[in-house]
Amino acid sequence: MIAVSTQVPHERRILNDAIAWKVVRDLAKEAGRAHTLMSLPTFSKRFAIWQERVRSALNVPETSFSPRMERVLYGLAHAFEPKTTVFLGSYRGYGAAFAGAHALECSGGPESRARLWCCDVSAEDSAFCRNGFGLIAHSDTYVVETLDAFDFIERLERIDCLVLDVDCPMRGKAIYAPLLEAALRKMNSHGIVLAHDVLVPRFSEDLMPYLKSVADPARFLWTRRVSLDDAGLEVSCVY
Ligand SMILES: C[S@@+](CC[C@H](N)C(=O)[O-])C[C@H]1O[C@@H](n2cnc3c(N)ncnc32)[C@H](O)[C@@H]1O
Repeated sequence: MIAVSTQVPHERRILNDAIAWKVVRDLAKEAGRAHTLMSLPTFSKRFAIWQERVRSALNVPETSFSPRMERVLYGLAHAFEPKTTVFLGSYRGYGAAFAGAHALECSGGPESRARLWCCDVSAEDSAFCRNGFGLIAHSDTYVVETLDAFDFIERLERIDCLVLDVDCPMRGKAIYAPLLEAALRKMNSHGIVLAHDVLVPRFSEDLMPYLKSVADPARFLWTRRVSLDDAGLEVSCVY
């Protein structure tokens, strides 16, 4: 995991907002979701409020998600409005709180239909995540399980947005390709898959089979690399 400081000066915040918003805008256009895009000022305002809430609830000392990537995850969640977001390798919930913002932030109660499903093999980290989400969202909007990601996928029904951030001690990021295979059967058409860390040099060999899969036009409509930090994110749209 790359440690990223969470303290950012005001000017840098404005720059981060603008850079991330443009990335989200381009991806939303690509997916035919431009109509759901917030204006940049609305995005900046809403993101700042949500980030403050997430940071005070989760108080994560370090995270692999850069300030720009937090914004991209947040913007994509609101642009794509997935009914079901699944986050594999949720750790203490920091990245998931942004990727799952459409469920956590917008859902006011049990009548709302968007849900965030998280899993991690660490019981301690899952408990921390569950506790933090309890401070910022309605309990009906999320599920956090201590489970192996493959077992978790088996329990799920349909998926609109899948986020891969498992870092397996035995298989490293090579686990992304078989996780994708397992989850694809459950993904809805035009669902999106977000794979974190695709630019990290030490993961490049592990990730080759995954990147080959998402480049297959028989299975994916398009795939785009978000390169606004050292970790990177592959955003792929299921056929
Ligand atoms: C890179 S960390 C995730 C970082 C995190 N998403 C964040 O918000 O900063 C990778 C996580 O994958 C989890 N993990 C490793 N193997 C797993 C598996 N087979 N199934 C589910 N989670 C797993 C680890 O416990 C660890 O928390």
